Amino acid sequence: ADADRNAILEAHELTAKFYHYLLNNTQYGTEAKEYLRGRGFGDKLINQFMIGYAPTQWDTLSNFLSARKYDPSLMEKGGLLSAKSDGSGYVDRFRGRIMFPIWDRDGKVTAFAGRIIGEGQPKYLNSPETMLFTKSRTIYNLHHARPAIRKSKQVVLFEGYMDVIKSWSAGVKNGIATMGTALTEEHCTILARQAEEIVVCYDGDDAGQAAAMKSIPMLEGAGLRVMVSMLPKGKDPDEYITEYGPDAYLREVIDQPATTTKFKLIYSRKNHILLKEEGRKNYLLEAAGIVAELDSAIEREVYLQELSREFNFPLEVLKQDCHIKHQELQ
Ligand code: GTP
Ligand code: MN
Ligand code: MN
Ligand code: MN
Ligand code: MN
Repeated sequence: ADADRNAILEAHELTAKFYHYLLNNTQYGTEAKEYLRGRGFGDKLINQFMIGYAPTQWDTLSNFLSARKYDPSLMEKGGLLSAKSDGSGYVDRFRGRIMFPIWDRDGKVTAFAGRIIGEGQPKYLNSPETMLFTKSRTIYNLHHARPAIRKSKQVVLFEGYMDVIKSWSAGVKNGIATMGTALTEEHCTILARQAEEIVVCYDGDDAGQAAAMKSIPMLEGAGLRVMVSMLPKGKDPDEYITEYGPDAYLREVIDQPATTTKFKLIYSRKNHILLKEEGRKNYLLEAAGIVAELDSAIEREVYLQELSREFNFPLEVLKQDCHIKHQELQ
């Protein structure tokens, strides 16, 4: 089994280099290269993240691997090849995709995410779960980001690979992502071992904001101090950087994270029509509940004062309501 693991690891390293070479140095990679250029990827970034291209043919990688004497059935187990449905052999799993190597915590390539060029489904195709790759435990870019995380005691959690890479090029060296939006307890535990604070920086759409809400108790439960960086409606970090540039991104998004309380208050507002009396009342009830979660009476007071001013509503009443809710939580 150890020999199998080593062969699969070796094959991944070779495959990453092969795809990277095809992107950079052959005609096969031209369209992918243009696509990446259009998304603001320079050569340096492509090299730093060893981005590659898997051609559209069915046998590019399978020929490459058999010429190097790798057992195709083992390569299928490793997630690089797929078995043909009629059982007559193996074909490349990834075809016509921009390839992002995924590293384990030791910096070994153990999987890939392949993005389609332009529109199409699925947008990203990941390696399957293998003896080397477990999605619930894998954190994209942790190996790269670790020194910066250790130094600052802070980690920035993004939704997508593109967000991590573009943020890196904008100067955020402590950025990581999970494989899609599903954050697990295991991810949280691993991150809590590396950092004291985590900044959640998910996409500025409903899915991203809902995922951020869900992540807060999980991350806090693992012992992390949580902050939330918010993006304008509908934008993700990559799109923000493309539109406004890296300086504005660092200044307005990364360096201005909100407290989780602030974020929850903003999130809750969306569900209430504040122009109506009823909506304002319901929002204040919900807001008092959010503020009531805070342990410190001083912190509660600060948020309640803000609400009182904004809604021109008696502070004493907010405090009473919040106090009752706070005691209910104890
Ligand atoms: P770009 O469109 O390339 O900028 O990607 P994105 O990261 O903005 O994608 P999106 O916000 O839609 O999704 C966030 C993350 O979810 C991606 O980085 C992937 O990890 C994952 N994801 C998105 N679409 C798919 C998919 O079709 N299949 C899988 N397996 N994962 C996906
Ligand atoms: Mn998204
Ligand atoms: Mn996105
Ligand atoms: Mn994006
Ligand atoms: Mn509500």
